[in-house]
Amino acid sequence: MRRAIIGGTGVYDAGSEVKTEQLVTAYGDVTYDVMKVEGREIIFLPRHGKKHSTPPHKINYRANMMALKMLDVTHVYATVAVGSMNDAYEPGDVFVITDFIDFTKSRVQTFFEGDDGPVAHVEMTEPYCGTLRAAFKEQAQKSGVEIKGDAVYVCTEGPRFETAAEIRMYHQMGGDVVGMTNVPESVLAKELGMCYAAVGVITNWCTGIEGKHIEGHQIAESMEKNKVKITQTFIEVLKEEIDVNSCKCDRSLIVL
Ligand code: HPA
Repeated sequence: MRRAIIGGTGVYDAGSEVKTEQLVTAYGDVTYDVMKVEGREIIFLPRHGKKHSTPPHKINYRANMMALKMLDVTHVYATVAVGSMNDAYEPGDVFVITDFIDFTKSRVQTFFEGDDGPVAHVEMTEPYCGTLRAAFKEQAQKSGVEIKGDAVYVCTEGPRFETAAEIRMYHQMGGDVVGMTNVPESVLAKELGMCYAAVGVITNWCTGIEGKHIEGHQIAESMEKNKVKITQTFIEVLKEEIDVNSCKCDRSLIVL
């Protein structure tokens, strides 16, 4: 069984020596790196491609997640770059996602489309694996990664940033941070019975919070500062045995 890391904006490798491979899935082709850490294979998949050439609304989420399933991946950590609309989280801060609110518009969110196949619904009581979240927090303390806290992630369609009025609404609804990619990635992981958790870095204040323009270099700099520490922490957890009985991720699918 393998484990995987999905790298978001600013995270295009996981640092170690790797072999690049490609897999053909029913949804499209996927290119990924394979690294060997103490005898265990860890897959690294750059969500936007190695050169950040795929925008959030065009990412082939189903191909990416199906490729991981075909590679026998059971546990996945992902990084996300986000804007903050919560005063407690400022650019450069690291947080763990506990839940999401979905404002995407045009993305296929399921492998179960009916027709000749079964109809299924995925259970969302714990959208992000509790075991992986706890393991990241524990390892982060040892690895010197300061985690600011937990956050509710609002996923927008993008690729444009939000208006100030949208951010006011998202904040009133209970969102802490805004990004464009964690839905449907996290949902598809659940449909496939994988344990999935996502760790974020605040790259900017959301539109209207400080009244300043969002700058591209801010996003790149915040990710650059944190990416090695975060991916190393992922690897430290993923290379070890993980208790598979302490969560229900592999039983989240309700088939009717
Ligand atoms: N909004 C949406 N997605 C983002 C942002 C943001 O402010 N920052 C980084 N990704």
